[in-house]
Amino acid sequence: MNPDTCELLLRSGTVIDGTGASRRTADVAVDGDRISAIGRLDAMRGAREVDARGLVVSPGFIDAHTHDDRAVLSDPGMACKVSQGVTTVVTGNCGVSLAPLTGREPPPPLNLLGGEDWYRFPTFAAYREELEGSPPALNVAMQVGHSALRAKVMDGRLDRPAAEGEIERMVELADEGMRAGCIGFSTGLAYPPARAAPTEEVIAIARRVAARGGMHSTHMRDEEGGVLDSVRETMRIGREAGLPVVISHHKCAGRENWGGTRETLALIAEAQASQTIDLDVYPYVAGSTVLLAEIVARSEKVIVSWSEPFPEVAGRLLDDVAREWGCGVAEAVGRLQPAGGIYFMMDEEDLARILAFPGAMIGSDGLPHDVFPHPRLWGTFPRVLGRYARDEGLIGLEDAVHRMTGKPAAVFGLPGRGELREGAYADLVVFDPDAITDTATFEDPARPAAGVRAVFVNGREVWAEGAAVPSAGAAPGRLLRRESPADRPG
Ligand code: ZN
Ligand code: CU
Repeated sequence: MNPDTCELLLRSGTVIDGTGASRRTADVAVDGDRISAIGRLDAMRGAREVDARGLVVSPGFIDAHTHDDRAVLSDPGMACKVSQGVTTVVTGNCGVSLAPLTGREPPPPLNLLGGEDWYRFPTFAAYREELEGSPPALNVAMQVGHSALRAKVMDGRLDRPAAEGEIERMVELADEGMRAGCIGFSTGLAYPPARAAPTEEVIAIARRVAARGGMHSTHMRDEEGGVLDSVRETMRIGREAGLPVVISHHKCAGRENWGGTRETLALIAEAQASQTIDLDVYPYVAGSTVLLAEIVARSEKVIVSWSEPFPEVAGRLLDDVAREWGCGVAEAVGRLQPAGGIYFMMDEEDLARILAFPGAMIGSDGLPHDVFPHPRLWGTFPRVLGRYARDEGLIGLEDAVHRMTGKPAAVFGLPGRGELREGAYADLVVFDPDAITDTATFEDPARPAAGVRAVFVNGREVWAEGAAVPSAGAAPGRLLRRESPADRPG
């Protein structure tokens, strides 16, 4: 193309480039899937020009923690995420991935993604093929889920450590995942399918993942009274397997553990001096997962997010359902199965402390198939930018954007993502810094954010002025592979 013309020109926006650097006014030119120029481009003419005066132009957000493995196939428009400015989702979290388990009803929490009909990918290569055959609107970086491996090789008896031969099979399955393009592997050691797995079992798999240049993320064994020991276990896995680790949705749950983040964050900060350890967080004091009696017992309040036998109670308080049924809460939990819940169990001060922790990444942990989802599915990113950065001033806007862009791109090893610079991929979000806010609530959870004006993935617009932009031809999302720092030239 003529050097003075480009396909798309975002004019005079407030550029926040994702590195954490201060904002500056600049024009951003896009050709094909890349940013072709950035700066004062007065002589440049765009085939399409967007007046971005007064609006922030930043890299598209990377959702560090999702359960979108199936959603990117069954809902390729991904409105719940692109409406927030998210252009990449990291999948396969909490030990849960849609491959390679097949031919059996997935045990909770694997059923968060769907039933046996959705567990039909014997390999990660088969999953990738389907994804790339009909790509979604945003990019995907996938992880191998440890519980999915266990469910595949352990004959349905998951309440025990894996035998040596089973570990060998899991190592080979994880290896297949890495060769098929996974960026790493995740565990959900708090959940029944993986609770009996000793640390050594995880390390054995993590070693192979490390040999393939991958990372490891974990829903730790204990996010309550034993959380410090769990942080230590995570540190040990990272050290002994020799890979970077990410603590997923960090929290100290249960009233008697509130305030515990003073100690966990101090321990993590100390560990960062000698190993690569990071964390992600969602900006709410309620969590959400399958309905488990033990979590109900530790929660202040529980909303039913779905129930297979009683779909009509989705969105109602568990206490009210039990009262109406004239039974105890424990019995109601049993009758509702299989089911999901939203649990109020964290402290606002802990949450603020984690959000303010340097480099803490933002991950929605949204559950896209829940009938009545936790509002984090639609609200996470605008809530951090609007409520916590702008309104409460907990972190600066540049810092907040960095934790959603440059930081996760570095942690997950996504080259060319997360930064606005010449040559980078044109994953972009244009938002109004005064108006951006979440509108999804615990009463009305599936509402798109306010203030997100336009979202581009690989140079193609996918969201504009509150609505999806229908794509001509295949949607622009791609499967992203990991580049470890060692691969990068000098
Ligand atoms: Zn989790
Ligand atoms: Cu999760």
